This record gives sequence, C-alpha cells and structure tokens, in this order.
Amino acid sequence: MAVTAIIGAQWGDEGKGKIVDLLAEKARVVVRFSGGDNAGHTVINRFGRFALHLVPSGIFSETDCIIGHGVVVNPEILIGEIENLNQHHVDTSRLHISDRAHVIMPYHLLLDGLEEDARGGNALGTTRRGIGPAYADKAARQGIRAGDLLTGEEFLSRLRTVVEQKNAILTRVYGLKPCSVDEIYQRYVGYGQRLAPYISDVTRIIDGAVKQGRDMLLEGAQGSLLDNDLGTYPYTTSSCPLASGACLGSGLNPKNLDHILGVYKVYTSRVGAGPMPTELKDSTGDKIRERAHEYGTTTGRPRRCGWFDGVAARYSSGINGFTAAALTRLDVLDGFDRVKISTAYRLGDKVIDYFPASISELMRCEPVYEELPGWQTPTTHMKRYEDLPEAARRYIARITEIIGCPVTIISVGPAREETIFVEQH
Ligand code: IMP
Repeated sequence: MAVTAIIGAQWGDEGKGKIVDLLAEKARVVVRFSGGDNAGHTVINRFGRFALHLVPSGIFSETDCIIGHGVVVNPEILIGEIENLNQHHVDTSRLHISDRAHVIMPYHLLLDGLEEDARGGNALGTTRRGIGPAYADKAARQGIRAGDLLTGEEFLSRLRTVVEQKNAILTRVYGLKPCSVDEIYQRYVGYGQRLAPYISDVTRIIDGAVKQGRDMLLEGAQGSLLDNDLGTYPYTTSSCPLASGACLGSGLNPKNLDHILGVYKVYTSRVGAGPMPTELKDSTGDKIRERAHEYGTTTGRPRRCGWFDGVAARYSSGINGFTAAALTRLDVLDGFDRVKISTAYRLGDKVIDYFPASISELMRCEPVYEELPGWQTPTTHMKRYEDLPEAARRYIARITEIIGCPVTIISVGPAREETIFVEQH
C-alpha cells in the first residue's frame, strides 16, 4: 500500500484535479486536507465536466472521499456540489466530512469582502469566499465546526456569542446592519441535517485505512507559494497547502506518508495580487493565457501568466520534499520558437539563486533566463515519453534537473487519456 500526497508546486491551478482523478482510480481513499471553495478543480471524465470546489476529485472512483479538518467548508456550496453530482449519477455515499472541519459562516463571507475593499490599492485579491476570516476564527478559537451544526442548543449558544462579537464589528466598524442569530441558526441547522449522514470523526477512517494497507491520496488545494508561512506572505492563502499540511489537515501520522508528488505547470500562472518574477505582461503572456484558457475556475479572473520559474520551483521542491513530479499543460507550449526558464534572479546588482522571504525583495527580482529551443509538433496525442519532440524532452530534462526529483507524469491535454506516464530506468 502507499500513501501519496499531491501538492501544488506553484501558485495554484497546476492541474492537480486531473492528476488526482487519474490516480484515484487505484486509490481506496482520497482526502482533501486544506483550503475551501477558493479552490476549483476541473475534472473531465465519462460522467461529464465538473468544476469541484470542495468534494475531492476521487468521488468518481470507488473510493472513500474525505474532507479533512484542515478544510473550511461552505455548506451551501458543498450541498450544491453533492446534488449536482447525484444528478449526474455520481454516487456520493462514500463522502465523509470531518466533524472537526470549520464551517464558513455568512459573516465570514461579508468580512472577506469588506476587508478586501478596505485594503483599497493593497487588496490581496482573495476569492472573497470567506476563507481568510474562517481560518482567522479557527485560530482565535471562535470558529464553528461541522460537528457543532448537529448539537442543537449547544450550537445556538456558541453562535450567539460569536455573532454578538461579529455584529459589533459589522455595525461599529463598517456601519452595516447586524446579522440575525436566529436566521443563521435556522439556515445552518438545515445544512447540518442535510450533511449529517456525511459528518463523522474521519481520523478513524484514515487510521483504519492505514492499518488495512489501503492506497490513499491526500489531495492538496492551492499551491505551495501561497502557503501562509513559506509563501509570498501576505499575498497568501490562510491554510497550509504543503506536504506538511497534508498530515496536519488530514490527521495522518507523518510516518505514514510514503510519496509526495509535486504538480507543476510547465509555465507559471498566478491569480490575485503579489510578486511573480516571471510574469509576462506582453503578447507572449497573452498567448499562453488564451491558449491555456487561464481564467480562474472559482472567480473567472484572468490569470497572470509567464515562463517557468526555476528558482521558485526549486524552492517549492525543497520545502515539500517532493519524491516525484507531474508536469502539466506541456501542449500549451507547442509551437513556440524558443522557451525560457528562469534559473536565477537579478536583485539590484546581485544575482541570487534563492527565493527571498522578503516580499519587497521578491517584488524587485528580475528573472535571469535560460533559453531553450521550442518544438513545433503538437504533443496532445502523444502517449510515450519517447514520442515527444526532442526539444520538449530537453525542456523537461532541464526542469527535472532544477527541481531535483524525477518527472513521472506529463499531461499533454485536459482529458484523462492525454497523459504520459514516464517509465523510470
Ligand atoms: P483566499 O484563499 O480566497 O483568501 O485568497 C488568497 C490568495 O490565494 C489570492 O491571491 C487568491 O487568488 C489565491 N488563491 C486562493 N485559492 C486559489 C486557487 O485555488 N488557485 C489559485 N489561487 C488561489
């Protein structure tokens, strides 16, 4: 048996959904461990095309799908996803939600928008899904957990205390009307009743699966460079999308994590504000965006696009300890005369090969590029590594060298079959 974590290695949107969907066929358990409905995984398979925000992409296979306690759950969104899946004849009886997972409440959604607006020109570009405020409440020990929704009077009393404090902020700081405890209570008790069959202490399921030797995937959301500690703070998300977060947010004992698969796009994208040294604000960036349709699954915002950032990629591989990598969207680079990889940054009069912690330094970094020949042949229908044009193989080999772990999967199109599994010699 093996337990594998699938980790976004850049700023999110690396194509983790497709990789999980592929690997979930063999897995018996899939666990989502971080983020909330700020994430969006597009999955295309025999049931149709789905944009999943909360339900693990493994739902299409005969697997137990777990939403771990590291996730913050918007119950309305989750119920919508479950109903949509059921309408498409996808069985959701194997879905489990951790009773410890925190719930996104109406005031979290309100505050995310208000706080972003108040930042003005310094807005972080959050998804406005209430993610930051929900994690802030978790850290402040005033969150509501999925299990609380099932406790009746206990939930009401806790909610009263929290809403009183939120209303003080909403009315006195923002001059808005207060939230009604009763309205929220009625609505959320309803959600609780609908989700009750799915809510349980999932650590027991995970522990049992490990003891039975069942193959398990830990499905990451967002990307490593958005991590609140090791990412480009404060332009980060509020949870831990790293390999270490996979254990933290699922309850898996770290000794039981066997493989860590980093998912990289063969170029770089970012949505929201914050530094991105290889961003291309020119026709090449536009070409990548249009060809790859780089628009957010959750917000529809155009993503910022640029060349592969080797400095960031190496950093991400190091902090996660990737044992292997999947490269996605190779086909997007088909037809470029030259392709570029940044291997260092120019910072003032220095050349550095590390990813600076200081946001102002990172903002000033200019990429130092290595240019490689591009390839003209379309790669989408290629099935074997050996079939790829020589220039594409050279490009992949250079990325492999930079990230320091073997590339075992190459995605050349959105569909499941548009994937090359690289044999390791
Ligand atoms: P939040 O997670 O909504 O608080 O947003 C914080 C930052 O993370 C913003 O820059 C978002 O654009 C970014 N972000 C959040 N989720 C995703 C994702 O799934 N893909 C890419 N960026 C994301």
